[in-house]
Amino acid sequence: LFEFLCPICKNPLVRTEKTYICENSHSFDIAKSGYVNLLISQKQQCHGDDKLMVQSRRDFLDKGYYAPLRNALCEQIQKYAKTGSRILDAGAGEGYYSAAVADAAGDNCHIGAIDISKHALTAINKRTKNIDCAVASIYDMPVADSSCQIALNFFAPNCNEELFRILDNGGILIRAIPLRRHLFSLKSAVYDEPYENEPESYDSPPFSLVSAKELRFRINLDSNKDILSLFQMTPYYYKTSKKDYEKLLSLDELETEVEFCLLTYEKKL
Ligand SMILES: C[S@@+](CC[C@H](N)C(=O)[O-])C[C@H]1O[C@@H](n2cnc3c(N)ncnc32)[C@H](O)[C@@H]1O
Ligand SMILES: [Zn+2]
Repeated sequence: LFEFLCPICKNPLVRTEKTYICENSHSFDIAKSGYVNLLISQKQQCHGDDKLMVQSRRDFLDKGYYAPLRNALCEQIQKYAKTGSRILDAGAGEGYYSAAVADAAGDNCHIGAIDISKHALTAINKRTKNIDCAVASIYDMPVADSSCQIALNFFAPNCNEELFRILDNGGILIRAIPLRRHLFSLKSAVYDEPYENEPESYDSPPFSLVSAKELRFRINLDSNKDILSLFQMTPYYYKTSKKDYEKLLSLDELETEVEFCLLTYEKKL
């Protein structure tokens, strides 16, 4: 089991059959679809991926297009996970990478996932029952100081301070970020003037960078459904005019570049 903290009094929560409860009797129900909602601030409730984005991401990732990234992640997990490691996926989405981590880390690790979207966590629960899921914000995680050995932050908002806080000394943060030409041909199919991504710096203080593995390959999307799933799982979907979006409806095939960096950091005190 992965241990979460009570969002009200910050004491550990104990999991019972239907609730999580702390020593001050603050209790949080476990939803039918397996997650616990630990968000107490109304202000935070409105963000996160909706059902369509979650479903599109699942449909797309399950076709294996990003398997090279998943495999590179699993190599890192096999390198760093030990018996009893506590691993948190911060901004887990529908759990394609979290589930791979759970497999690679083996039975003796404790895997937790947080996301601000309950639709995402509902989807994780359909993938695997081996991950404890909580609705929570990356900017205020219900996780104890220095309690995790590995944290994951894949294509999600990055809050270094929080990730640093929850990791143990010597703990490992694994991030994935898109590089300059990621999905450029997809953007070109939609926009008259597509932009390249602004590259993020690999340095991420107070963490120490251990390795940066750049992955560049091309994928061939061979159906309109896959093209739409890919587009709908990106934030572009909500920022694109109807007229531009409709350009995708007549495409049955698209080859596009994929460019990621898998970054591994260590918390060194
Ligand atoms: C682009 S998706 C990536 C999901 C997953 N890590 C993956 O790579 O497939 C970003 C995720 O971050 C979540 N998210 C956005 N803001 C968040 C926040 N403040 N706290 C926690 N999760 C957040 C979204 O709901 C979404 O599931
Ligand atoms: Zn409490």
